[in-house]
Amino acid sequence: MTADLSREGLERLLALEDFSPVAAAADRVRREAVGDTVHLRALLELSNHCRRRCAYCGLRADRRDLPRYRMAPEEILAAAREACAAGYRTLVLQSGEDPWYTAARLGEVVAAVKGETGMAVTLSCGEMGEADYAHLRSCGADRYLLKHETADDDLYRAFHPGSSIQERVGCLRALARLGYEVGSGFMVGLPGQTLSVLAQDLLLLKDIPCQMAGIGPFLPHPATPLAAAAPGSGELTRRCVALARLLLPQSNLPATTALGVRTRGERNDVFSYGANVVMLKITPNAYKQLYDIYPAALPRTDIAAQRRALEEQIRALGRVPL
Ligand code: 5AD
Repeated sequence: MTADLSREGLERLLALEDFSPVAAAADRVRREAVGDTVHLRALLELSNHCRRRCAYCGLRADRRDLPRYRMAPEEILAAAREACAAGYRTLVLQSGEDPWYTAARLGEVVAAVKGETGMAVTLSCGEMGEADYAHLRSCGADRYLLKHETADDDLYRAFHPGSSIQERVGCLRALARLGYEVGSGFMVGLPGQTLSVLAQDLLLLKDIPCQMAGIGPFLPHPATPLAAAAPGSGELTRRCVALARLLLPQSNLPATTALGVRTRGERNDVFSYGANVVMLKITPNAYKQLYDIYPAALPRTDIAAQRRALEEQIRALGRVPL
């Protein structure tokens, strides 16, 4: 199958009545380009403070009813040691845009995690200046996740007060220049989003170009301005993952947590649509429910047991957990 991956072509593929040949092609490309390995990543949500006011996100600064937490460096290090002992080789450190965690403070944490555990460190802490990104890189950060969220100029402005897609892409390009492995991604099913916008989202991943892309359904949060909006479709999300695989054969594409929340039983289906990564939350139970980006019923954290259970699920799919 040779697919037309132009903007119009992508839009047509997303709208297909029968997508199964495209999904099969994505699965084949995945196997040939990156093999059967599924990478397990430990995800630690280190602070739910955020200075931004993104319209869809439950951590937005003007939300007053959410208790805020911030893990101390020593707590982060303790969780990192436990993840390493459980077999993880990558730690993802994610947070809201928390001004307390300056690049200097975050850099000390990164250096300590790397020094003590040798794990690869992925940061996902939002927009910073190039000098800050450079400092964090010099402290040992290997990768950076910064989803572009939506490539459409007007939608971006509508959902992100005071910022623009141009600034977002500027950050992604700075990260790439600094030698980070760069991850972007977007939400599927935002109010006002069309298939043409999703095609643009997919092409932006290729244009940057990204080594990783997290694609998840929009889930309305009751404490946000988008409370009454409809959630994004799980099937359309999987289709976007499949097309991302065709556009970027070598990339790392997670089965996102949001997709798991939206589709539950079908969560594993995205592994046959090109996905090859899964992130497991290792956030301590005292904080886990407070990292309330979107509504989700989360299991209590048990780092080692949950990793073993996930490895089993992945083997049952005929894939190889790493
Ligand atoms: N629904 C789905 N995903 C969301 N995110 C934030 N809020 C929501 C929501 N309501 C995603 C964004 C962000 C990531 C941390 O979580 O893509 O980058």
